[in-house]
Amino acid sequence: MTKLSVNINKIALIRNSRGANQPDILKIATDCERFGAQGITIHPRPDERHARYQDVFDLKRIVKTELNVEGNPLPKFISVVCEAKPDQVTLVPDGPDALTSNAGWDTVKHQSFLKEVISEFQKQKIRVSVFVDADPKMVEGAKECGTDRIEFYTESYAKNYSKDKIIAISPFIRAAKVANEIGLGINAGHDLNLENLHYLYQNISGLLEVSIGHALVCDALYLGLENTIQMYLRELQ
Ligand code: PXP
Repeated sequence: MTKLSVNINKIALIRNSRGANQPDILKIATDCERFGAQGITIHPRPDERHARYQDVFDLKRIVKTELNVEGNPLPKFISVVCEAKPDQVTLVPDGPDALTSNAGWDTVKHQSFLKEVISEFQKQKIRVSVFVDADPKMVEGAKECGTDRIEFYTESYAKNYSKDKIIAISPFIRAAKVANEIGLGINAGHDLNLENLHYLYQNISGLLEVSIGHALVCDALYLGLENTIQMYLRELQ
């Protein structure tokens, strides 16, 4: 089974644009779960322009499925995550000014740093996932770092899907094979949508979770949140 984790950063962005608490991301998270989502994801960045660090604590109180917190493991992020203890932390090497995550980790170059932070999270019984490109060397490097899972950065898949989906998926099939052989769990995310999700699901064996934000929120504007979540869930069958 592949779980759908809804990334609610875009909802937090709308909330922040007016200063009050509308839309209420806690209500949205609860409603996403009620509509069938099997997880909630947020990605607090140092400037807190979408999700805020306080949201991590608030969501931890109310999320009943699985809370996944993504971000760059800077000192503040590490202390918030270790205190809030979400179900999963996804480590992303995004710069503070990045518009959105734009690369996977170099798990060879940053091995000693990653090893250290991964073990700190695991001591708190938080499952760790490391954001990587679909590159067998980076997958093997992630294993060396001691992570429980990897999350494939699927931007290149999404970008190339409409040109040639067989070419778009092939590095992910190869990298997933390596991950399965060495016993790493596989998540995936970035730029997934109703058009490209099912093909990824069909071709990546052992895909445990996808986290989807931007396209899902855009679709919900036209289709409604409940209907949209149901449609995404159908793509994962
Ligand atoms: N995974 C990671 C690590 C991300 O940073 C993001 C975007 O915040 C996503 C998944 C979801 O990407 P999208 O918003 O394009 O669905």
